[in-house]
Amino acid sequence: MLSNKMQEALNAQINAELWSAYLYLSMSVNFATTGKPGFANWMKIQFQEEQDHAMKFLNYIISRGGTPVLKPIEEVKTSWDSPLQAFEDTLAHEQKVTSMINELYALATEEKDYATQSMLKWFIDEQVEEEETAQGIIDALRMIKDNGFGLYTLDKELGARVYTSSTETE
Ligand code: FEO
Repeated sequence: MLSNKMQEALNAQINAELWSAYLYLSMSVNFATTGKPGFANWMKIQFQEEQDHAMKFLNYIISRGGTPVLKPIEEVKTSWDSPLQAFEDTLAHEQKVTSMINELYALATEEKDYATQSMLKWFIDEQVEEEETAQGIIDALRMIKDNGFGLYTLDKELGARVYTSSTETE
């Protein structure tokens, strides 16, 4: 059984993950409507992954006998001046999510809640990947600057990203 404090903290993370999903869907729409279908595809998959993250927390709360409560999702930004700005926002957001996951882990450790610590390990690893990927795209965009062919090539590369669910086996 989860403590009330742990359940509330995990529940808040469902909202944070859904807000992330909303943010990336907004970026996807922005890219799709400004002629960057590959960037839009990449962000759409990011949106799907964030929904999976929310579902992992939701399913976990249920599996521990708790009741998830779905709170309102705050509005997100809708336009970015450049792909670089969008990916800088992405990295900053993922760094914030990393600290939220770390705080959840710290709480689970304080409470000697070993099951929650174990569940959170997947997210700790995922956040390393999330930050590394965003940083890699920022590095590429900084190299490309305003080079049209560079942007075209990166758009094609990001267009090849394929979604795979991380909740399929649950
Ligand atoms: Fe759910 Fe991008 O962290």
